[in-house]
Formats: sequence, structure tokens, C-alpha cells
Amino acid sequence: MKRVFIHTFGCQMNVNDTMRMSEALGSMAYTPTPTADNADLIILNTCSIREKAEDKMLSALGRYRQVKLQRGALIGVGGCVAQQEKNRILERVPYVDFVFGPDAIAKLPEIIQRVDADRVRVVETAWVDSERYVFPSADPNTSRGKATEFITVMKGCDNVCSFCVVPHTRGREVSRPFTEVLKEAASLTTVGVREVTLVGQNVNSYLGGISFAQLLLRTAQVPGIERVRFTTSHPHDLSDELIEAFRVEPKIMGHFHLPVQSGSNEVLKRMRRTYTVAEYLERLEKLRAARPDIAVTTDIIVGFPGETDADFEQTFELTEQVRYAGQFSFVYSPRPKTGAAMKEAEWGSVPHEVKIARLERLNTLQKRISVELNAASVGQTVEVLVEGSSKTDASRRFGRTSHNRTVNFDGDAPIGALALVHIEHASASALGGKQVSVESLPAIVIPEAVVAPEVCVA
Ligand code: 5AD
Ligand code: SF4
Repeated sequence: MKRVFIHTFGCQMNVNDTMRMSEALGSMAYTPTPTADNADLIILNTCSIREKAEDKMLSALGRYRQVKLQRGALIGVGGCVAQQEKNRILERVPYVDFVFGPDAIAKLPEIIQRVDADRVRVVETAWVDSERYVFPSADPNTSRGKATEFITVMKGCDNVCSFCVVPHTRGREVSRPFTEVLKEAASLTTVGVREVTLVGQNVNSYLGGISFAQLLLRTAQVPGIERVRFTTSHPHDLSDELIEAFRVEPKIMGHFHLPVQSGSNEVLKRMRRTYTVAEYLERLEKLRAARPDIAVTTDIIVGFPGETDADFEQTFELTEQVRYAGQFSFVYSPRPKTGAAMKEAEWGSVPHEVKIARLERLNTLQKRISVELNAASVGQTVEVLVEGSSKTDASRRFGRTSHNRTVNFDGDAPIGALALVHIEHASASALGGKQVSVESLPAIVIPEAVVAPEVCVA
């Protein structure tokens, strides 16, 4: 039996792709190993969304070179950097054996056989036409032991946000037929999964036979599914129908990740986001009318080319006004072939120290708001889907609320159970408390010892 180590960088799409790679390699009798040191095959599943992610990938490659020298391990680079930078990788890193794009995962066994048999370097980064693209179906057994799982519902992105590399690395949008999504949800319930998150770069423009709102509602009706989530959404596709789904279906969890990117209309225009701040707020207001307690999170980029102090102040004020439950804020980094990278000289770069100062101010503000919102839960009893033991204290349990808040608590609720937890304390990132009661699990009791294959997420 040979061993494979897959180092995953980046987003949930990549984590999912890693699972599909493991499954494809299982058919070649490769078993996953949690460390590169004893691997016969090392794959880096890369991310190019920001410069930092790419730098991390290059430094990891440097470390794995040693394993190649000592054990003769094969090294492959997959994912977004591979798709966009195949030639540069092959030139700069002579010990990389093969490079493959996100559309070539199903071909992995064939690629490795070619590298092994012919001792040649293989490059496989062709796009598969939308009509011919087949979404790899997940093997439910890899999800045994989990209460919650991700289902890919679409790939690619047809938007042209000027900062974003995704359309260049993941190609055009392709939606997965809704029947396949529902089948996958049903098969996950047979191994004990009770919550699914539907994922894609831009799920609201889903076109898999029914609307995205319908897909959420139908997924919520799958017997055994208690909770449905999704990510990621573009504000201009947030339809009234989707908002209505939040009003009528309590199994759709009360959390919406709605990246705003900036609070300045001028910056949004240069970002090619196709909405104004007022339009964004109008959508949010409607959403909150449908589900008053909904927790909204967002992504923000600071230091976009041409962003003035006044532009940034508007982002700061928007954060204060919306009172996001949380936000991922990033310093802008130019990405190859994107509109903003090509226009940066014309629009004007923001100095690095200014970007960092803005990021720190925004993070401090967000932390204050998150602390305040989480503190409001103290004294309440909340429903938590138990995912396992707490990462910080193994004697405690860990799960998430409908609002996607992390809860660590004293109790004995098994994985997959819905527990009621009395909240006693709160920080910016988590709630803590004591189990009040737990439902008796009707169908499947998931054995604690069974875990999904090891995935190393950077
Ligand atoms: N620089 C900084 N952040 C970026 N993001 C996407 N591209 C860039 C970039 N070039 C951020 C956006 C997006 C999140 C996934 O990553 O905020 O929503
Ligand atoms: Fe990138 Fe914009 Fe598509 Fe999101 S919607 S993946 S930010 S191009």
C-alpha cells in the first residue's frame, strides 16, 4: 500500500477537491498519511486568491523537496496556482513531477500512471466544457463520523470582480444537476450527517434545473437533514425568492455570508461589483425582515488601488452600521491577469503600511462588535449541533449554533446530536456553557473512533 499526503491550501472548494483526490487515489491503492515524511506521493492543492497563499505554497514545496531526495516521493501541484502558473511552476521547481488543474481531478490516476511509467513530467490543465463536466460524487464513507458536511453545487464564476483570480483559475460557472445534489445529501444521512453546506464560488446564480432557493428548500426536505447552510453569495444575485426561503424554512440556518468588499461606491465601481452600498443595505434589510435574528458575516478588502482615507472611513462606518457577526478582512494583493492588477498604476497603489493600519483598525472594530453580539447570548439557552470534542479542551464538547457561532460546553452529547446549551460566557470568537438537555439520536449513533481521512489545511 502506497501513502499519499495532500497539503490543502485555501477555501472550502479546495478542501472538497482534496477529498475527491483522496477518493480517486484510493482506487490506485493509495492510503492517506497525515505527514509528508513517510509519503510516496505528495500533492499540494494550491490557492491563488491572495499573494500570501501562493508564497506559502512555494515554501511548502521547498520543504517537500527533502522527502523527494530521501524517498523518491512523487510531487504534484494541483488547484488554482497550478491552473494559472503551470509554466512558471515547471520552470522554477524542477522537482515537481506533475501539474494539474481543478478540472483534472478525475484524471489523477491516469496522470500518476503516466509519470510512473514514462518518467516524464505531466501537465493537465485543460478545461472541461460545461456540457461535458461531471461533478465527482462524494463517497459517503469518507464522511462517517461527521455531523456536518459540504456538498459542491457549482464550480467556477461568471462575474468579473476586478481583484479576483477565481474566474481565471476555475473557469465558467457550471451548476450540478439538482437531482445529484439531493442524492448526495440523502446518501450523507446514511452515515449520520445531519447538516449540509451547499458550496460554490457564487451559489446564488445556481442553474442546475431549479433555482438556488428551491435547491435549499428541497435539500431541507431530505429525510435526516436537520440543517442547511450555503456559501458563498454575491449580493447582486440575492433574490427575493432566496429571502423568502429564509422566512419559510427554519431548517435553513440563520447565518448569511454576504461579502460586501468595500463601503465606498467609488471603490465598488472599480471592483466591478455591480451594486451600490445602498442596494446592498436594501437587500440586507429585506433579509432581516424575513429572519430578524439572522447573523450576517462578510469579506472586506482594504487598500484596493485608489482607496482613499475617505473611502476607507465609509467601509469602517458600514461595519459599524451593519454590525456584522464576523468578517474576513484582507489586504489587497494584485493577482495575475486581473483587471485591478492591470489598472493599479493608473488608479494608484495604497502604501503597504497604510493598508496594514486600515486592516488593524477594521479588525479592532469588528472584534468589539463580535464581543458585544456574542455577549448578548450569555444567559440564553441555544441549540447546538454537536461536532465533536472541543479543540481547546478535549473533556468538553464542541458544536455550532444556527447563527454559526462556535460553542464549547460541558456535557456528554454525542456527535450528531442536537443539544440545548446554557451559555455562560462569550468571547469574540466563541461561546461557552453547560449542556441542559440532549435529544436521543433516533437513527444512527456515530462511533467517536471513526474519523474522516486526514486532511492538512494550511
Ligand atoms: N486581494 C485581497 N483579497 C482578495 N480576495 C479576493 N481576491 C483578493 C485579492 N486580490 C478576498 C475577497 C473574497 C475573499 C474570498 O478573498 O474578499 O471575497
Ligand atoms: Fe471572485 Fe467576484 Fe466570482 Fe467571488 S463573485 S469568485 S469575488 S469574481
